[in-house]
Amino acid sequence: MAWDVRPARDLDEFKRAVGSIGHYFGGWPPDDESAQRFSSNLPFDRMHAAFDGDRIVGGAGAFPFELTVPGGTIACGGVTVVGVLPTHRRRGILTAMMRAQLEDIRDRGEPIAALWASEEVIYRRYGYGLASLACEMALPSGYAALREPRDDRATVRIAPLEESKDVFAAIYDRARLRTPGMFRRTETWWETRNLPDPPERRQGGGEKNALVLELDGEPAGYALYRIHTKFESGAAAGHVDVIEAVADGPLATRELWRVLLDMDWKATLKAYLLPIDHPLVHQLTYPRRMQLRVGDGLWVRLVDIGAALSARAYADAAPVVLELEDAFLPENAGRWRIAADGVERTEDAPDLALGVGELGSVYLGGFGFGELVRAGVVRELEEGGATRADALFRIDAPKPWCAEIF
Ligand SMILES: CC(C)(COP(=O)(O)OP(=O)(O)OC[C@H]1O[C@@H](n2cnc3c(N)ncnc32)[C@H](O)[C@@H]1OP(=O)(O)O)[C@@H](O)C(=O)NCCC(=O)NCCS
Repeated sequence: MAWDVRPARDLDEFKRAVGSIGHYFGGWPPDDESAQRFSSNLPFDRMHAAFDGDRIVGGAGAFPFELTVPGGTIACGGVTVVGVLPTHRRRGILTAMMRAQLEDIRDRGEPIAALWASEEVIYRRYGYGLASLACEMALPSGYAALREPRDDRATVRIAPLEESKDVFAAIYDRARLRTPGMFRRTETWWETRNLPDPPERRQGGGEKNALVLELDGEPAGYALYRIHTKFESGAAAGHVDVIEAVADGPLATRELWRVLLDMDWKATLKAYLLPIDHPLVHQLTYPRRMQLRVGDGLWVRLVDIGAALSARAYADAAPVVLELEDAFLPENAGRWRIAADGVERTEDAPDLALGVGELGSVYLGGFGFGELVRAGVVRELEEGGATRADALFRIDAPKPWCAEIF
């Protein structure tokens, strides 16, 4: 059956489209006010709705993002609130929405799309590839030691959330411009998503708190965190959740985390969505005790291959030719020659054959061609092709990191 999919036209349609995934969250969005607030970041026409007659039975949104890639930034559809009502699952509605949404993203001139997946199994079929890893840690207090002593240039203060918004935003913006995978946050985004602290989202913890770290008197880091106090048999059994900690460089990172690590009355310091190359691994005395758990982070889909590949930087290395497969958007398939001075279609013999999802995996620098060849998901057609491609794509940048699920 062909499903009717189109963007929402008004608040009512927007609410019903978002309500498809909202159903699984227990009925969100419940009212006009929260839907209005959500739409301040996601315009109505970025929210696709799937219709069964005049009933909306599915929805898929895409935030208009600017995403950092190695050596630059790119317009990106930040795919979000994807859902199909339980009454209509497994009838092709998601597939119809993904097609309409990717066409819309392409027509808007956004060369890539990115998302966090509720389940890893869903999005590969639409050409998304695993592009970054996200880590969780749970560090017991007894092992929360840093290798280096405290540095007197650093001072840390507790910062009121609202008043410190501009300080957080400036630090975040510096980090996002140097880190592939991070997106630009607008003022509205901060006000509606990062700063609010509704009691129903606290999951038994206290208020959202913030620290600001200064180096020689200049703000150089911030952390948002929540304390979950608990005592068992008279001993601290609670934890501190680090919601987000961002800092300018190694010293600021270390001294910011020192305050979080040293916090009394906790049994464990927990953090989520950490990048795989987090400096703490090298700064902690007991990195093993972080109990790092690694999972999938951002998934990336190249929508306009030429524009997407042209938007990132390359090393000064020999060109490579890729034979690209793209079953969902076949117009992307074919041979692409990638060189430091340009990207173009070609008839030259290919070095590597790969699917568009695998190209998404290497795009931000999270994975290399060589490791994908060794995993058997990219084929090397010319000897040394993966080594040459890795040399071309290698840029001195942190591993891709997206600090927030959107
Ligand atoms: C995930 C979800 C959107 C899928 O919608 P849907 O309309 O049932 O998907 P489709 O019928 O278009 O399925 C397309 C294909 O994906 C497969 N698929 C979709 N979701 C799947 C899942 N969770 N597990 C395994 N396979 C899945 C289908 O089997 C189908 O495979 P096929 O083409 O080989 O037959 C829907 O189940 C849902 O809303 N789930 C809860 C909310 C959610 O997780 N949203 C995603 C947020 S990132």
